[in-house]
Amino acid sequence: MAQTTPNATRGGFSTSFGILAATLGSAVGLGNIWKVPYLTGANGGAGFLLIYLLATLLIGLPVMMAEISLGRSVRANPIKVLRTLSPGRQPWWLVGLSGMLAAFLIMSFYSEVVAWVFAYILKAVRGTIMSSDPAVTQADFAQLVADPLQSLLWQWLVLAAVASVLIMGVAQGIEAITKRLMPLLFILLLILGAVGLTLDGAQQAMQFLFWPDFSKITATVVLTAMGLAFFKLSIGMGTMMTYGSYFTANQNIPQTAVRVMLADLGVSMLAGVAIFPAVFTFGFAPSAGPSLVFITLPAVFSQIPFGHGLMVVFFVLTAVAAMGAMLSLMEVPTVILQERFQMRRSRAVLLATLLVALPGAGSALSHSILAHIHVAGFNLFDLPDFVSSNVLLPTGGIIIALFTGWVWGRDKLQAELSNHGQLRNAKLTTVVFVLLRYVTPLLIALVMLRGLRVF
Ligand code: PFF
Repeated sequence: MAQTTPNATRGGFSTSFGILAATLGSAVGLGNIWKVPYLTGANGGAGFLLIYLLATLLIGLPVMMAEISLGRSVRANPIKVLRTLSPGRQPWWLVGLSGMLAAFLIMSFYSEVVAWVFAYILKAVRGTIMSSDPAVTQADFAQLVADPLQSLLWQWLVLAAVASVLIMGVAQGIEAITKRLMPLLFILLLILGAVGLTLDGAQQAMQFLFWPDFSKITATVVLTAMGLAFFKLSIGMGTMMTYGSYFTANQNIPQTAVRVMLADLGVSMLAGVAIFPAVFTFGFAPSAGPSLVFITLPAVFSQIPFGHGLMVVFFVLTAVAAMGAMLSLMEVPTVILQERFQMRRSRAVLLATLLVALPGAGSALSHSILAHIHVAGFNLFDLPDFVSSNVLLPTGGIIIALFTGWVWGRDKLQAELSNHGQLRNAKLTTVVFVLLRYVTPLLIALVMLRGLRVF
């Protein structure tokens, strides 16, 4: 990923493939392997996936294109982008601030899930979790999260790793590694999926994943699916705007966005096919929640030759994928602190990391000594997740869509999406504009208000 240095000397992505890989690196992460499967399981399967797909197409894709376009047209951090483009003193830039808040909240639980992944690498190496008995794998997971010290220490290790990469400015190196390793993760998921399909519960799993039962769809399910679409594509908080500011002038924005979306969906679907047959074969509960991946995958690995070694590789690759996503998450507050408050990069990173560690400790301890604390019915792990995905990101999405559709305007959007007329995509850009101006903001608002029971 590009180095972030103040304006005139800002870095940027150099090749078209590099842009695609970095953008994909932000989108693909624990979301695919951990969140999509567990939310699908908890929200009734195929119906949820269908709404997630619709939200991705009607909301996610246009907002992603808008964010990248806005970012590239000014080439600055999200706050500066919106300040530069807003007429008068209109406070559209506030979306940059809410983006920063969203980054802290997401990092606080995300870093804890990566902490579990780190712990599972060690467990996998030791070979203690190779079992297809739900009682065994569940107990193993429960033991990890119930240990406050382990939960905190692993999280701090994750945060320290992310901060060092950002401070040493070796993000580029990490991105290069990620780029090479991601195809491997894809292949491993393919193998797991193929194994899954040979299990007895495969048919039931396919039905669960692809045959919608509409009776399970409630307003909350719809809100959750929409929130997932935002989270998955890293939109609504300025991440894609920041990445857009590093795009080259001749990069095809609509094509890049579509490719990222398709690849991202592909990885999520594969993860689903790898996980759900085992869920039904060995008697796990699809609605197990955040533990789902951690308790079911050991069962899949216990069924295949070299399962022990492959499980180690799998968790290492998952950690690498999560690293790419976390680097992009931290980039938002870091760039804002750097450029807006004239902080040195190292200070900005340290401050941002500390600001994550505070709510992060809440998430880390939410299954042990802070398990009794609930706010509005959520524990300290689910709370930042809910607020970011279902409130902050959609609100950011509405603001970005409205700004693009009503303030920035059709000509400027089309100029960016068509590379100033070089690409012949006038029809497509018209559709994107109409979606952004009317459909997307209205849809988001309706889903949010219903989902949050405002009406
Ligand atoms: N899209 C990432 C995932 O699915 O794992 C999570 C994420 C990264 C969300 C960056 C938001 C963001 F800005």
